Amino acid sequence: MVAGICSTDDQVVTPLPVILSHEAAGIVESAGEGVTTVKPGDKVIPLLIPHNYCLKNDVSNPRGTLRFTCRVKSIHHFVGISSFSQYAVGDENAVAKIDAASPLEKVCLIGCEFSTGYGSAVKVAKVTPGSTCAVFGLGGVGLSVVMGCKSAGVARIIAMDINKDKFAKAKNYKKPILVVLKEMTDGGVDFSFEVIGRLDTMMASLLYCHETCGTSVILGVPPDSQNLSMNPMLLLTGRTWKGAIFGGFKSKESVPRLVADFMAKTFSLDALITNVLPFEKINEGFDLLHSGKR
Ligand SMILES: NC(=O)c1ccc[n+]([C@@H]2O[C@H](COP(=O)([O-])OP(=O)(O)OC[C@H]3O[C@@H](n4cnc5c(N)ncnc54)[C@H](O)[C@@H]3O)[C@@H](O)[C@H]2O)c1
Ligand SMILES: *[C@@H]1O[C@H](CO)[C@@H](O)[C@H](O)[C@H]1NC(C)=O
Repeated sequence: MVAGICSTDDQVVTPLPVILSHEAAGIVESAGEGVTTVKPGDKVIPLLIPHNYCLKNDVSNPRGTLRFTCRVKSIHHFVGISSFSQYAVGDENAVAKIDAASPLEKVCLIGCEFSTGYGSAVKVAKVTPGSTCAVFGLGGVGLSVVMGCKSAGVARIIAMDINKDKFAKAKNYKKPILVVLKEMTDGGVDFSFEVIGRLDTMMASLLYCHETCGTSVILGVPPDSQNLSMNPMLLLTGRTWKGAIFGGFKSKESVPRLVADFMAKTFSLDALITNVLPFEKINEGFDLLHSGKR
């Protein structure tokens, strides 16, 4: 199994012990009775949102049922995936078979960050050619939003982050960012994306999309049990406010298709891969995440 470190793994709060990770690719070791869509040896990506979300899902109960034990002690799993582990057990509905030639260490990103960002642009916001977009936060997910905007022919992408290592060319403004943005765009952007997971930037992202025709999408996962209060006038003038998990993709059919698009070089994942580490160095991976170097 190959896994990516997504910042959602880092935001998870107790109960412990838990095996984290939900962005992965691996090879089927064995299949249970009655399983028809995968067989031993197949390459697969575990699905964050099982295909039939309405029937069966672990999102509202991310630590769910117990399927791991260590020296007779039960260990919680995470959204039914728990890929920081050599082996994992998953429901047939929650894995998708992918191209046998696909490089697992790259396509694992299709299991979460890439698809979330890319789909939020092309499928959720449905960004239009020639439009202007703003992306708040340039981690793996935010960069994937940028890739989706680019592929859809967006004319201008304004990307914001507080980590200056994220930019080859960036400006540091003295004025408040919302004032700068309104001046830059004649009243606001057509599409804005919050890809950080902070309530203040969720509000900024909404405010910054155009008041009569803008669409703002929340991708960031907010801090546990915090609520946002907002003035409904912001929506009455015509803004659209949306949110999505996994870029709005139906996973079992979309994941293999995205892998096929990757294999056909429709997009590259290289820009999203900053380090490849062996499993024993997992804590170094988290240190890199915390220092903003991944
Ligand atoms: N909706 C979904 O299905 C889904 C899936 C995956 C991740 N997420 C969430 O998306 C968010 C982003 O994930 P990621 O893996 O890209 O995270 P990341 O930590 O790699 O990136 C976040 C970026 O935001 C920047 N940032 C932090 N505070 C900021 C501020 N005040 N202003 C501007 N920039 C700021 C950081 O410097 C960093 O570059 C997280 O909240 C994550 O939980 C949601
Ligand atoms: C936040 O919103 C939830 C869902 O509507 C509600 O149950 C909860 O009481 C709210 N919490 C606070 C602190 O307002």
